[in-house]
Amino acid sequence: MQDCTIETVTDTVIAQMATTPDARLREIMDSLVRHLHAFAREVRLTPEEWLRGIAFLTAVGQTCTPHRQEFILLSDVLGLSRLVNLMHDAEGREEVATETSLLGPFFRENAPVLPLGSSIARTPSQAEIVLYGTVRDSEGRPIAGATLDVWQTDEHGLYDLQRQSPEEMDLRGRFVTDAEGRYHLRTVKPLGYSIPMDGPVGDLIRAQKRHGFRPAHIHMMVGATGYRELVTALYFADDPHIDSDTVFGVSAALLVRERHDDANAPLPGLPSVRFDIVLSRARDQAAGRVGADPARVTGAGRVGADPQTITAMR
Ligand SMILES: [Fe+2]
Repeated sequence: MQDCTIETVTDTVIAQMATTPDARLREIMDSLVRHLHAFAREVRLTPEEWLRGIAFLTAVGQTCTPHRQEFILLSDVLGLSRLVNLMHDAEGREEVATETSLLGPFFRENAPVLPLGSSIARTPSQAEIVLYGTVRDSEGRPIAGATLDVWQTDEHGLYDLQRQSPEEMDLRGRFVTDAEGRYHLRTVKPLGYSIPMDGPVGDLIRAQKRHGFRPAHIHMMVGATGYRELVTALYFADDPHIDSDTVFGVSAALLVRERHDDANAPLPGLPSVRFDIVLSRARDQAAGRVGADPARVTGAGRVGADPQTITAMR
């Protein structure tokens, strides 16, 4: 019979879960139960605190919509997304390749494909900048035909998904590198912004007296046949929150500065930001995205769901 004590309950649970035929699911759940129980013992979790935790996670789930992913945000502010990214990088990124950063909760698929030199801002309300660079392999050879997905906030610090009409895309686009692996596009300099603070994750951030801000950045996802998909972002070094990103996405290698004197910039007269990209060769099919289009996550989370659904989501 199961005569559970504080000391034996963990092993009792793991013994019952040993029937799990999927070896990876068994490994993950065994470890999760061990760590979860160890956590509860360590903090001496009370029934009231346990219920508050359940209520918090319930609110996180209920805040998710096809246009908002509060669970990805929670993962981000706990540093879990960054950790998963770093572990994925350690397995397959070539030494000289561009570092990754977070996909975040605001990526969306099917952004418009635009000619090089186009602006991703539908109605720029401030001076434009040109963002340009090259996409190369680790030996310096240009990669023609690479696709760059680019997305960022507007001048108010909002993504299109957070506006009144979230179905309308703005400040995002896809570009294809030319024969010499070059790209350039026009946009506005993004502002640093607060993560969404009107949900349960915002409540947590306030309770911890954290500021909730991300430094100004532009997201990029870069792919080319035969190369490992790169999810990254460039960060403006002059942002006041560059050293205290709430979601831990910044790294020194991803810092950029706006320049007014770059003779190599492809659109003279505009301030420029150069961001050269190096892709790793593909060793596996892993996309390395932590996060997904919110519309794709909804409904894909049942244990035993068709793996193709999850693969397609990534
Ligand atoms: Fe972002």
